[in-house]
Amino acid sequence: MSKPEGVTTLKSFSYRGKHYQVPIFDTLEPITILARETTLTLPTAEQSRVIRCLNSTWDLSEFKKPRSPVSLGTLSHDELNVFSKPEAVRVLDLPIKLPDCEQYRLPRALRQFTGTIARVVDVEHRINPRHADYHAYLTIDQRWVEPGTLQREAPCHVDGFQGARWQPKCLTNHTYTVSDLLPTAYYVQPFDFDGLDERVHDYFWEMNAQVADTNEAHRWQPSPAEITMMDCYCVHRGVENEGPSRVFRTWLRVSFEERRRVFDRLGNAHNPLFDYEWNMVDRDIEQLGLRPFRTNADASLRVFPWQDLEGNALPKGAPKTKPKLRRA
Ligand SMILES: [Fe+2]
Repeated sequence: MSKPEGVTTLKSFSYRGKHYQVPIFDTLEPITILARETTLTLPTAEQSRVIRCLNSTWDLSEFKKPRSPVSLGTLSHDELNVFSKPEAVRVLDLPIKLPDCEQYRLPRALRQFTGTIARVVDVEHRINPRHADYHAYLTIDQRWVEPGTLQREAPCHVDGFQGARWQPKCLTNHTYTVSDLLPTAYYVQPFDFDGLDERVHDYFWEMNAQVADTNEAHRWQPSPAEITMMDCYCVHRGVENEGPSRVFRTWLRVSFEERRRVFDRLGNAHNPLFDYEWNMVDRDIEQLGLRPFRTNADASLRVFPWQDLEGNALPKGAPKTKPKLRRA
């Protein structure tokens, strides 16, 4: 990745075979975003489980109730042109708002995302009376997606899963996402985790298995450039580029996480426009040693993407293992 204006250094980290490149931002020409009035039509709490569960405490039984993300409109042609500009800086969970602060602060290197983030902020402050209790974390990924691959290989999963580490349980998260093409697939179906133990079982593998049980019958996708909001119970997965040629994809995520949810994982970016210091630690799901609940599920549904079907690490550059979610 070349070094865009506003980035002083690209720092590299590696752990457990994974590599992270973290941009170090300068503090020149900081961008400040404040919520504006919005007249957007939004569903009520009666109409949307995602809206209803805002500011509630994590509860596994909510997975039994199928839910769709909330649609928040589509980026215009002009907005999309700015959003998709190449050579964007990739960041992972960069705090752009801290609790008890009204301002969202963006390093200038991320300028092209200002308009999209402003739209998200307008909605957040309208629907969430407790926005002051939350961090907002920004993730940007932009890259070529080769035929037969996806930008961010992962099992069916949710963002903001609260595993055994979070005791007592926190408020649920909610997350805004948009991509210019290959919109994320959501699985609007009930998920039943009775019998699973969060200290023992990998819930994402069980999500794979329950989606495969239905042969992906409940898959739903927004349109390209459509902004949506999901919560931590909306099971989803990126989609493959099924076309004959590679495509250039830009994807943005803004996650709202309550004040206890400090994302101090090594590899996440630091925002120098806020005065905070977190002790960053290496952490990932692999180190938890979780097992599949169903040991007889198809092998592809119960390995990490970087493993082969026997669980051995794939050689560098080898195609990632995909969960087989549909029968042939
Ligand atoms: Fe996700």
